[in-house]
Amino acid sequence: MEYRGYDSAGVAIINKGLHVYKKKGKVANLEESLVAKDMHAHAGMGHTRWATHGEPSDRNAHPHVSANGKLAMIHNGIIENYARLKQELINKGYTFKSDTDTEVLLNFVQDIQQNNHCGLEEALRIALKRVVGAYVLVLLDADNPDTIIAARKGSPLVIGVGKGEHFLASDASPIIEYTKEVVYVNDYELAIIKADELVLKNLGNEKLTPFIQKLDLQLAAIEKGGYDHFMLKEIFEQPDTIFDCLRGRLDVQASTITMAGVQNNIDKLKNADRIVMIACGTSWHAGLVAEYIFEELCRIPVEVEYASEFRYRNPVVRPGDVIIAISQSGETADTIVAIDKAKEQGAFIFGVVNVVGSSIARISHAGAYTHAGPEIGVASTKAFTAQLAVLTMIALKVAQEKGTIDQKRYNHLLNELHEIPEKATAVLRQSEHIKKIAAKYKDARDFLYLGRGYNFPVALEGALKLKEISYIHAEGYPAAEMKHGPIALVDEHLPVVFVATRDSYHDKIVSNIQEIKARKGKVLAVITEDDTTITGMADDTMVVPAADELVAPMLSVIPMQLLSYYVGILKELDVDKPRNLAKSVTVE
Ligand code: AGP
Repeated sequence: MEYRGYDSAGVAIINKGLHVYKKKGKVANLEESLVAKDMHAHAGMGHTRWATHGEPSDRNAHPHVSANGKLAMIHNGIIENYARLKQELINKGYTFKSDTDTEVLLNFVQDIQQNNHCGLEEALRIALKRVVGAYVLVLLDADNPDTIIAARKGSPLVIGVGKGEHFLASDASPIIEYTKEVVYVNDYELAIIKADELVLKNLGNEKLTPFIQKLDLQLAAIEKGGYDHFMLKEIFEQPDTIFDCLRGRLDVQASTITMAGVQNNIDKLKNADRIVMIACGTSWHAGLVAEYIFEELCRIPVEVEYASEFRYRNPVVRPGDVIIAISQSGETADTIVAIDKAKEQGAFIFGVVNVVGSSIARISHAGAYTHAGPEIGVASTKAFTAQLAVLTMIALKVAQEKGTIDQKRYNHLLNELHEIPEKATAVLRQSEHIKKIAAKYKDARDFLYLGRGYNFPVALEGALKLKEISYIHAEGYPAAEMKHGPIALVDEHLPVVFVATRDSYHDKIVSNIQEIKARKGKVLAVITEDDTTITGMADDTMVVPAADELVAPMLSVIPMQLLSYYVGILKELDVDKPRNLAKSVTVE
């Protein structure tokens, strides 16, 4: 779970009483501190934290222990009304060992248990009716050593059903080693778990029938497979993951695209008054590329919204609107609450998601999986190119159904898509060359990334990758926007990365490169293999095979990913778990 948050970690076990061990920093720190401890137990829980309330420290790490020392709790989420609950408890004489909302909720549960003389399950149910916020909670009770109680609202929870054992986790990756049988817990559900029993209930204390699903995930998929880092493995997996994404959907011979989620809702999609892409981070950049594609092919107006802004901006959403929600993890809280907002106003939600069975996949009306496999590296790479492949196929399908694309262009683009996996392999052959470029610029204080048209979002993505992985300040801009201000930053110390593959903007981008060269800026350019013009101008080039500008972003982003990876490596940074980040941001 460490990739989901790693500023501190802790475990609690029941072994002749409740024992809690926690440490600031990576799981390795905690492991070191437990070497001499007797860690044998039949029930236990662990947590890797991404701080929301209270700085990363031993005392704010989870699990937290109740004032009476009998209960332990781990929590993923945010309790928004914790301050009021805390004041109520302080008025009753409670004191707190940490700054967390979690410890407040735990003592609130203990207080209800004591005042109502009821069991933990009932106390939790009562408490949750007073709680505002998002949570997955898991509790251990020293008085009931063979039972674990869990509850979910907003944050993800999956339960693994084993033989005489059960496992709970935020996603299936730590469970597949032990069982492929899982239950995805829904909002407002409680789970009461014993080694050989799983009971699901709603907050109304009604029993629910667990829906057991079979995982189609291999252990190897979540291991490094001989690569130094998950990020590098996932960058090099892209020829296969893009192929997997196209497989069974794209048929160049038959000139067809088969996507059930699109076909079953084709009227809604092709008659959409407007398409609104909702996403965060790298997925938002995929939405921006898709804006260009959908408007060009489908002639449907598209808007690309930061999910967090859309949620609180009181946006105008009309019933005829189609929302395309893009997410690798399918658990990003900002995107989930934005979807809920749009659904309230009658919009149709189409999810483009990577993690099978994730919340966004389950709350969308329809959707398409990106089939990129588990993405462990915090910096999203293979999920981005798979998102572009899926969004391109959806747009082509809708355009064909709408009649806004002629057969010749349609067949041409199907063929272009079909060739991407092989061309991606060619791009990856430059990794050693790109490593040398990274060594040249790794000590730069700032970077600028520039592109036009389809390459503008790729420039934004390149800048995001460098920021995440190397902690170097980097900004992406439409190249023509430079002369309206940012060009003031340019001097001989500033590397400027141009995403300049051959396209309908090529002549324009050449003059933008001249503007930078005229001010002694260092130009690194991603170019198409036969581009002698820019080769002669740039200080360094990274080459991709020729491709239609509409699909080229799946190729031109790869040198960006490699550049950031190697700069991070050469700066000896933890590229798989960069500081302050989490793979799936499950809190707003
Ligand atoms: C990208 O490298 C980051 N990990 C982050 O920006 C990410 O794209 C964002 O948090 C959205 O995540 P999602 O695709 O899982 O919703």
